[in-house]
Amino acid sequence: MAEQLVIKLLHLLLLPLLFTLITTDLVEGTKKTYGVYENNNVKLFVFGDSYVDTGNFLNSSSYKPPYGMTYPGKPAGRFSDGRVLTDYIASFLKIETPTPYSLRNSSALENGINFAYGGTGVFPTLVDGPNMTVQIDSFEKLIKQKVYTKQDLQFSIALVSASGNDYITFIKNSSITEIKSFTSLLIKQLLINVQRIHNLGINKIAIGLLEPIGCMPPITQLTFHLSCVDVLNLVSENHNQVLLQNLLQLNQQLGKSVFVTLDLYNAFLSTITTMQKNRKENSTLMNPLEMCCKGESLKVSCGSVDDNGNKKYSLCENPELSFFWDRVHPSQNGWNAVYKQLQLSLGQLIDRN
Ligand SMILES: *[C@@H]1O[C@H](CO)[C@@H](O)[C@H](O)[C@H]1NC(C)=O
Ligand SMILES: *[C@@H]1O[C@H](CO)[C@@H](O)[C@H](O)[C@H]1NC(C)=O
Ligand SMILES: *[C@@H]1O[C@H](CO)[C@@H](O)[C@H](O)[C@H]1NC(C)=O
Ligand SMILES: *[C@@H]1O[C@H](CO)[C@@H](O)[C@H](O)[C@H]1NC(C)=O
Ligand SMILES: *[C@@H]1O[C@H](CO)[C@@H](O)[C@H](O)[C@H]1NC(C)=O
Repeated sequence: MAEQLVIKLLHLLLLPLLFTLITTDLVEGTKKTYGVYENNNVKLFVFGDSYVDTGNFLNSSSYKPPYGMTYPGKPAGRFSDGRVLTDYIASFLKIETPTPYSLRNSSALENGINFAYGGTGVFPTLVDGPNMTVQIDSFEKLIKQKVYTKQDLQFSIALVSASGNDYITFIKNSSITEIKSFTSLLIKQLLINVQRIHNLGINKIAIGLLEPIGCMPPITQLTFHLSCVDVLNLVSENHNQVLLQNLLQLNQQLGKSVFVTLDLYNAFLSTITTMQKNRKENSTLMNPLEMCCKGESLKVSCGSVDDNGNKKYSLCENPELSFFWDRVHPSQNGWNAVYKQLQLSLGQLIDRN
C-alpha cells in the first residue's frame, strides 16, 4: 500500500516536471535552429469553424453582447466570452492573433489570416458560410496574388478545426446508425483539404481532433449535467481514431511530421474531470457541464433579445469559473485550460527537425 502511494506521488511530481523539460527543450531547440522564430516571421493561417473563428461571421451572435465580455470587453466576433483556441496558439507562436479574412486590409497581414467561419464544416452546413474548401480557395487566391511568398509559407503554420457542424447537419436528416459511413466520407474530404493546404506550401498543419460531443451542455441535460453521454463520445472516439490513423499514414508517406493533431478530446475530458473533482471540495465552483450563458429555454440561445431589447438569457456569476460559455463553445477559462493540455503537441508544431 505505502509503496503504491509513493509511486503515485512520484508520478504526480515527476510527470509535470518531465513535461516542462520536454516542452522547454523543444522550444529552445527550435529557436537555435530556426532564427525565423526569433524574427517573428512565422504566420498562422486558420481554417474551420467557430472553435477558431476570431471575427469572420459578421452578423452572428458573436458580434452581440454578452459575447466578448471578458476579452476584449465587448463583442468582437469570437464565439466565447473571451479568447478562443486561435488566440492561445498565436500566443504560443509569439505572434498576434491573425486578422480575420472578413476584416482584412493590406496593412494587417503580417501574422497570417484567419479564414475560419462559425457554423461551417467540411461539407455545407445549416449556416450559409464558406465551407472549408471555399476557405482554402480564398487562401489560394491570395497566394496567386503574391500576397504571401513561398518563403512566407515555408515557415508558417496552419490550424484546422472541424469540430462537429458536419455531424449536426448530418443528424438532422439521418439516423445515428449511418454515422460510421458518414465519418469515413467526412474524413476523406478533410484529408483532401489538409493535403491541399500542404501542397500550397505549408509544412506544419495542426488539426483538431473532435471534442467529446457527448459532453456538450444540451446533451448532458439528459444526466442533469452530472456526466457526459458515453454513446455520443464513442462517435468522437471513432472519428478521432480514423483521422489519426490516416494522418499518421500521410506523415509516413511524406517522411516527415507535416500533420500534427491537437487532442481536443482528451483535453476537454481531463479538464472537465479536474473541474468536477475540484467542485467536490468546493461547492461554490461551477459545474463544468453547465453553460455560463443560458437561453431562457433550450431553443433560445445566448445573446438573444426580444423586440424591446430585453435579454432572453442569463449569465453565470463568473464566466472565469465556467468551462462552457454557451451550448457548444468553451469559455475563455475553458480554452485556457484546454490549451495548457496541448503543450506537447504544440511543441511538435515548431519542431522542424
Ligand atoms: C447584417 O444583417 C442586417 C439585417 O439582416 C443587414 O442589413 C446587414 O447588411 C448585415 N451586415 C453585414 C455586415 O452582413
Ligand atoms: C488596417 O490594419 C491596420 C493594422 O492592423 C489597422 O491599424 C487599421 O485600423 C486597419 N484599417 C481598416 C480600415 O480596417
Ligand atoms: C463547398 O461549397 C462550394 C460552394 O457552395 C461547393 O461548390 C462545394 O461543393 C462545397 N464543397 C464540399 C466539399 O462540400
Ligand atoms: C433534410 O431533408 C429535407 C427534405 O429532403 C431537405 O429539404 C433539407 O434541406 C435537408 N436538410 C439538411 C440539413 O440536409
Ligand atoms: C472556492 O472557490 C471560490 C471561487 O474560486 C473561491 O473564491 C473560494 O476561496 C474557494 N473556497 C475554498 C474554501 O477554497
